[in-house]
Amino acid sequence: MNVHDSEKIAGIFDETGYGAAVDSGDADIIVLNTCSIRAKAEQKFTSELGKLKKAKQKNPNLKIAVAGCIAQQSGKKLLKRFPYIDFLFGPDNIGSLNSLIDGGNGRTAIEHNPDYHTSSIPMKREGGLKAWVSIMYGCDNYCAYCIVPYTRGRERSRPTSDIYDEVKSLAEEGFKEITLLGQNVNSYGKNLSDNIDFPDLLRKIHDIEGPERIRFVTSHPRDFSSKLISAVRDLPKVCEHMHLPLQAGSDTVLKAMNRGYTYSEYKAKIDMIRDADPYMAVSTDIIVGFPGETDEDFESTFQALAEIEYDSIYAFKYSKRPGTEALTLPDHVDEDVKSSRLTRLLDLQESICYRKNKVLEGKVVEVLVDGPSATNPNIMTGRTRSNKIVNFEGDEADVGNSVFVKIVEARMHSLNGEKM
Ligand code: 5AD
Ligand code: SF4
Repeated sequence: MNVHDSEKIAGIFDETGYGAAVDSGDADIIVLNTCSIRAKAEQKFTSELGKLKKAKQKNPNLKIAVAGCIAQQSGKKLLKRFPYIDFLFGPDNIGSLNSLIDGGNGRTAIEHNPDYHTSSIPMKREGGLKAWVSIMYGCDNYCAYCIVPYTRGRERSRPTSDIYDEVKSLAEEGFKEITLLGQNVNSYGKNLSDNIDFPDLLRKIHDIEGPERIRFVTSHPRDFSSKLISAVRDLPKVCEHMHLPLQAGSDTVLKAMNRGYTYSEYKAKIDMIRDADPYMAVSTDIIVGFPGETDEDFESTFQALAEIEYDSIYAFKYSKRPGTEALTLPDHVDEDVKSSRLTRLLDLQESICYRKNKVLEGKVVEVLVDGPSATNPNIMTGRTRSNKIVNFEGDEADVGNSVFVKIVEARMHSLNGEKM
């Protein structure tokens, strides 16, 4: 979502006549688009900002701006702490960028804007193959650990006609893969006057000629419906990959997290997905060491991973976020306990990933080719519909096309193959 916001920031710069600097030393303005989902992201930001202080001393005309969730959360406090920041703006205020550039120093734009979804902001997308399209903004779920509802504001769905028009123009530009973006795509349409939900939206987007693949992130398990599974099964362009964040396998922890489902309710949805399509890849997000998580609770998460056998996981140590409910909970877990739990989970998942990839050896898969690999120009890299990375010997002519590749070697996090 942040990378997509950066495309909007770049789009405004482009329209105003600012080009991208080849080297940050040549820049007139530097924008740090920040994430505050975990403390680590914030630490990265402060270390980048430290480097920019020196750049500003060398070139006093350089403007430094901070965008995104840290700007939203910290506001004027950030300007006080780092007086060399010229201006800052939150995720709902990207459209104010021009006036901020022209205005005096120390300006902030961090008001939540419930109408942000109706604004039309130009976008400068990287490459011409894959595009993100926002379908909703904000989040109303208030999971106890999460800062997003505070930084990105209330949930708002974008009007269907705006989404349709954007995908149509992407199709005309030749984009082949569209990823629909929202914090909780399954509640799309709740605040719209038209009677439309996410499966209906998928069907509408599917009618647009051009794109070969449609993906979406993120689904909230509580709102994940059988109607959605039917739409995914019926619509050939919708890829065979679902990202369904579990967060924890223990019902006690899920309740404390305010997730709104039990493990068995979640598992029933996974079963529903696999009954509809046994080849559907499933990935998830996990948090270890949520306040109060006991060894036993953690074992439930471990067992959940062993039982479900995800194709991939994103696992994180719980990180304290200002203003969230979890911060006030008792029994915070020691950092070293969190680390050892994380290591155990990742080790388990590595063996599952390898085993799942091994099954693909000898099979032929469809790969949408992203480009040459970073290390070898003769090796092309791309993704299967199930979102697995495939490397194969090919040439520039393959880039941007879908090719068939026979898998010859499974690796932990990728597959090696031969082009058919
Ligand atoms: N600590 C650790 N992980 C978090 N996430 C969100 N907030 C936190 C936090 N405070 C994770 C969740 C979410 C993913 C995007 O980031 O797993 O699904
Ligand atoms: Fe955060 Fe929960 Fe909303 Fe996801 S659904 S953005 S984890 S509050």
